[in-house]
Amino acid sequence: MRLLGFGFLWFSALVGCVLAQSIDGVIGLLQRRLPDHVDAFTFRLSNLTSGAIANSSLQNDVYTVSSTAAGKVLIVGNTPIALASGLHRYLTDVLQVDLFWGIGSRLDATNIDYLPTLDIPLSGSSIVPWRYHFNTVTFSYTCAFWSWEDWELQLDWMALRGINLPLAWVGQEKILVDTFREINMTDAEITSFLSGPAFQAWNRFGNIQGSWGGELPMEWIDSQFELQKKIVARMVQLGMTPVLPAFTGFVPRAITRVKPTAQVVNGSQWSGFPTDYTNVTFLEPLDSLFTELQTSFIQKQTAAYGNVTNIYTLDQYNENDPYSGELEYLTNVTYNTWKSLKAADPQAIWLMQGWLFYSNSAFWTDSRVEAYLGGVTTNDDMLILDLFSESQPQWQRTNSYFGKPWIWCQLHDYGGNMGLYGQVLNVTINPIEALSNSSSLVGFGSTMEGQEGNEIMYDLLLDQAWSGSPIDTEAYFANFVTRRYAGKNTIPAELYTAWDILRTSVYNNTNLTAATAVTKSIFELAPNITGMLDRTGHHATTATYDPTLLVEAWTLIYNASKTDIQLWNNPSYQYDVTDITRQVMSNNFNDLYTSLIDTYTSTNASTAAISAAGKKMTDLLTLLDSVLSTNPNFALSTWLSAAKSWTNSTNTTSYYEYNARNQITLWGPTGQIDDYASKSWGGLVKDYYIPRWNIFISYLETVAVGAYNATALDEALLVFGEAWCVNTTQRIQSTALAQSNSTVLQGLVEDLAAIWV
Ligand SMILES: *[C@@H]1O[C@H](CO)[C@@H](O)[C@H](O)[C@H]1NC(C)=O
Ligand SMILES: *[C@@H]1O[C@H](CO)[C@@H](O)[C@H](O)[C@H]1NC(C)=O
Ligand SMILES: *[C@@H]1O[C@H](CO)[C@@H](O)[C@H](O)[C@H]1NC(C)=O
Ligand SMILES: *[C@@H]1O[C@H](CO)[C@@H](O)[C@H](O)[C@H]1NC(C)=O
Ligand SMILES: *[C@@H]1O[C@H](CO)[C@@H](O)[C@H](O)[C@H]1NC(C)=O
Ligand SMILES: *[C@@H]1O[C@H](CO)[C@@H](O)[C@H](O)[C@H]1NC(C)=O
Ligand SMILES: *[C@@H]1O[C@H](CO)[C@@H](O)[C@H](O)[C@H]1NC(C)=O
Ligand SMILES: *[C@@H]1O[C@H](CO)[C@@H](O)[C@H](O)[C@H]1NC(C)=O
Ligand SMILES: *[C@@H]1O[C@H](CO)[C@@H](O)[C@H](O)[C@H]1NC(C)=O
Ligand SMILES: *[C@@H]1O[C@H](CO)[C@@H](O)[C@H](O)[C@H]1NC(C)=O
Ligand SMILES: *[C@@H]1O[C@H](CO)[C@@H](O)[C@H](O)[C@H]1NC(C)=O
Ligand SMILES: *[C@@H]1O[C@H](CO)[C@@H](O)[C@H](O)[C@H]1NC(C)=O
Repeated sequence: MRLLGFGFLWFSALVGCVLAQSIDGVIGLLQRRLPDHVDAFTFRLSNLTSGAIANSSLQNDVYTVSSTAAGKVLIVGNTPIALASGLHRYLTDVLQVDLFWGIGSRLDATNIDYLPTLDIPLSGSSIVPWRYHFNTVTFSYTCAFWSWEDWELQLDWMALRGINLPLAWVGQEKILVDTFREINMTDAEITSFLSGPAFQAWNRFGNIQGSWGGELPMEWIDSQFELQKKIVARMVQLGMTPVLPAFTGFVPRAITRVKPTAQVVNGSQWSGFPTDYTNVTFLEPLDSLFTELQTSFIQKQTAAYGNVTNIYTLDQYNENDPYSGELEYLTNVTYNTWKSLKAADPQAIWLMQGWLFYSNSAFWTDSRVEAYLGGVTTNDDMLILDLFSESQPQWQRTNSYFGKPWIWCQLHDYGGNMGLYGQVLNVTINPIEALSNSSSLVGFGSTMEGQEGNEIMYDLLLDQAWSGSPIDTEAYFANFVTRRYAGKNTIPAELYTAWDILRTSVYNNTNLTAATAVTKSIFELAPNITGMLDRTGHHATTATYDPTLLVEAWTLIYNASKTDIQLWNNPSYQYDVTDITRQVMSNNFNDLYTSLIDTYTSTNASTAAISAAGKKMTDLLTLLDSVLSTNPNFALSTWLSAAKSWTNSTNTTSYYEYNARNQITLWGPTGQIDDYASKSWGGLVKDYYIPRWNIFISYLETVAVGAYNATALDEALLVFGEAWCVNTTQRIQSTALAQSNSTVLQGLVEDLAAIWV
């Protein structure tokens, strides 16, 4: 039984959208995650005055946590998310427990029978009103096949970490289909425009159209729409402002059949895709049809999810160049797009990713950026995500986006790649500097392409949003270790030392020439005799730290299990051991690869020597595959099973699985952006990467350096890749592992320790 069945309701004028605020969201979270302790907490919404921001309708979030005379934990906050943030503070700092990506809830890990009282209340205040989460592409790289249970965990994770502005793309296609049906386009015309379940993000961006390997079934569109209703409702209940889609202007080519006078132009070609799949048709915002479709889209969306937001995500030129670079044209495009939003929702705020200004800085000169943003003459009607603030910030060169409100975002990784990586200095110091140098900075956030590992880097920035000075990362990492492995005084000292080594090595990249984001393992790349080890910048393969330090950290983490054997049963430990072992083996692979190439290119290289050097590499990968396969977070079967769980029809099952396989390998019908979203996953290493290396090694065995023919080898690798993607009946453990196999993991790690330590 819970004491407070309802909070007192009150209304906030936050950015013009009136939402009833209640404590139901945070109570629901406790019921899901700590059901035995719901009655031990009391929540109250109240105006805590320090939250107001001068000259703005925005406010900061404020909470206090104290103990009542009756021994309950009293959390007071000015918003529902402030309450969740206060709850998180108590859980992490007092109970020393938390909830993590992949690992799930560890909130009840320490068998608490009573909750400690606080002699001195805890308090917190955000330093920015918005904490934002998601990149448009995260919805494909990470969430494409998520179930409602996956979303529930994610949303609880986000609420506890104070996120109040999440992107919410799921199910957009349903609204779009209905909008196009209304102007009498046929379903065939509409669905031929839509991309597959694993590629919707780039269709939404207008980079691609259509679906290779089969057509998107209506079944998918309907099921995602049902999922989105739950997601949006939960976001709102937790006190978040969902950022919902809008009509962007990208339309099926056939629109001119029903609207012969529609002013359409073709967008640019994306990433070498054939014209049928790219050069997406764009309806010019100057055409009154644009406003008509915008109004129709937003009305349908509001009818479906309620009047729950006035912030809309809308990107027209993400990796897609405007039809013209003429300044007046660019101003017209934004002006008319903005007016269409305002016609549909007078309170509308347009949120856009600022990535284009970096990714195509040759096109987006300062004057073009100014002309484009200048079309929206009311600055507060836009909100810009400075998408890659830690490595390629654009806010300085654009003079804070010419006065538009903007958010400092950490992008961190491309394509859900998995290297251990972070810039601890930058994400603590730089956003604070930005806040004092830019008056229109209104939020911090995460815009990762894929939500991968390295969770501490995301936590760090989200916590920085509650601290006016740069966080002391040494203390922060120690606190993280305590809550990660759960339980005061029971955590072996080796774990603290290990994580401190990680902090100053893998998590302290300061050389942006070497790498700007998460690094990639070379064994995930199509084998080559050149250009693998020394990649820098985007998808770097260059280590930004001394690999021996990582082995030192690994050894300490392994030794901790000798101090406390129970660690093998701890899901956080299982996760981290797998992840760090993965990285050490990946680094070791580079040395074996170097030996192979040295052997191959040496004079009089013998087939036997090449073969022996190659075997060392595939042996290492075989062992790596076994390590990864002990944990569902590192298993291909998890991704494939999730894809297949969305249908019961045989045909559609193959199509969904093809999508899942293609995205992480060829990424495109014929490898257009091959290996962009590669993964170190058990099953994938064994069934995809090892065979590719075997093709390569066999080739080197038979063809001398002088006759090396990259074209022939590339062709053979593509033939293999294409066959693998369609081989959806192949024997790969077809159901996801239910849980990690710690006995097998322990055995494998002990074997490795015999070699490494
Ligand atoms: C949504 O709520 C706002 C604030 O009350 C109001 O101004 C607006 O008209 C509502 N929109 C719709 C579509 O009901
Ligand atoms: C809370 O603040 C709002 C906005 O400033 C104000 O209208 C309202 O009266 C305040 N409520 C309480 C309970 O103080
Ligand atoms: C769609 O077709 C129906 C039936 O032919 C017609 O009544 C309606 O006006 C058409 N709608 C539009 C927007 O053209
Ligand atoms: C099954 O898939 C094939 C290949 O995509 C397609 O041609 C066929 O129409 C599909 N059949 C059904 C019943 O969906
Ligand atoms: C596709 O875009 C490219 C520019 O990226 C352009 O050269 C080409 O003409 C376009 N093709 C069509 C059919 O629009
Ligand atoms: C911009 O819009 C104005 C007003 O609608 C129009 O007169 C002008 O021709 C447009 N310019 C371009 C380059 O599209
Ligand atoms: C963070 O990165 C930006 C962009 O490279 C750079 O301008 C800034 O100096 C860095 N700050 C710190 C503290 O590393
Ligand atoms: C990170 O690296 C920089 C540059 O090498 C160094 O100055 C700094 O002390 C390091 N910080 C941490 C936390 O290791
Ligand atoms: C940064 O990385 C680049 C590329 O790997 C390297 O050439 C350079 O020496 C590094 N700079 C420093 C200061 O380590
Ligand atoms: C598939 O069938 C099972 C058993 O009838 C059912 O529980 C499940 O909801 C179905 N899944 C889909 C995606 O229709
Ligand atoms: C290797 O890299 C080179 C240079 O990027 C490229 O031309 C070649 O096609 C690649 N593939 C193979 C198999 O060597
Ligand atoms: C390389 O391989 C391609 C494809 O098999 C072939 O067309 C080409 O003639 C080969 N080049 C040489 C120099 O043998």
